[in-house]
This record gives sequence, structure tokens and C-alpha cells, in this order.
Amino acid sequence: MTNYSLLLQESKALLLSPASDTDSILTKICLLLQTTVKHYDWVGFYFANHLEKTLHLKAYAGIPTDHTVIPFGKGICGQVAISNKNFVVDDVSAQDNYIACDIHVKSEIVIPLFVKDKNIGQIDIDSNIINAFTEQDSRFLEQLNAAIADTLF
Ligand code: SME
Repeated sequence: MTNYSLLLQESKALLLSPASDTDSILTKICLLLQTTVKHYDWVGFYFANHLEKTLHLKAYAGIPTDHTVIPFGKGICGQVAISNKNFVVDDVSAQDNYIACDIHVKSEIVIPLFVKDKNIGQIDIDSNIINAFTEQDSRFLEQLNAAIADTLF
């Protein structure tokens, strides 16, 4: 069982690491989540370029992906860039607008990151388990993104 409140505390401690740049803090958070939560197989943060209408991978933990730049509207991530809403995919094989990074992935969650009500990016998590994500994951990741927005942006 995941202790989400402890994980949030540990993430907040990383956010306060002295003399660390944004990329390394976000990478540490990805690693913490990916190694702590059994059903988190790939964890990454994408950030938006609103002029170009593209998302750019800034930090991740898990296998490397070719999809470091994603146009708005493409895939689960690109749809969240436009909708500004959480997207939980119980079974990725049932999605038409989906970008596959790894054939083992079965489900995915994407939660937007807001700074002063503007959707500036998102956390994207893949799981090799079908139906992996619950309301607990959504609430935890919303709180994490809010803490990141408050501390780093
Ligand atoms: N599956 C995502 C692409 C990013 S990878 O999961 C790392 C999507 O459909 O947007």
C-alpha cells in the first residue's frame, strides 16, 4: 500500500533542496515516485511552449522515450494541454488518440500543472498494469503539482 501523504511530504522536501535547479529537482521527484509506487513504471513532466503549441519533456524516470516533443492535441498528453483536465486512461489499447512509448504500458494518468490558473505543463505516469490509477492517485498528483507550482514557478 502506498503512503501518499508521506510521499507528498518527501516530494515537498525535495522541492526545498538548497541550490538545486528545477530540472534536477523534478528528476529527483520522478525517481522518488517511480521507485516508491509499485504501479508507476514511467514518470515524467512535460512543459508547454504556448507559442509553438508543443509539449517538451523536462524530466523523467523510467525507460527513455522518443516522444520528447508532443504537439498540442496529440496523444493523451497533447489532449490535456488543450482540455486543462485530468485524463485517466484505464486501458490504453482502447484509445484512438494515444502515443505509445513502450509496448508494456497498459494504463496512463496525466494531471495538468497550473500556475496562476494557466496550464503550463503536466505530470504523465504510465503503468504496466491495466486499470492502475485511482482517485487517490489523482488527488495526490494534483497536490504534488500544486506544491511544484508554488515552489518552483
Ligand atoms: N502516452 C503519451 C505519450 C508520452 S509517453 O507515455 C512517455 C500520450 O499518449 O500522450
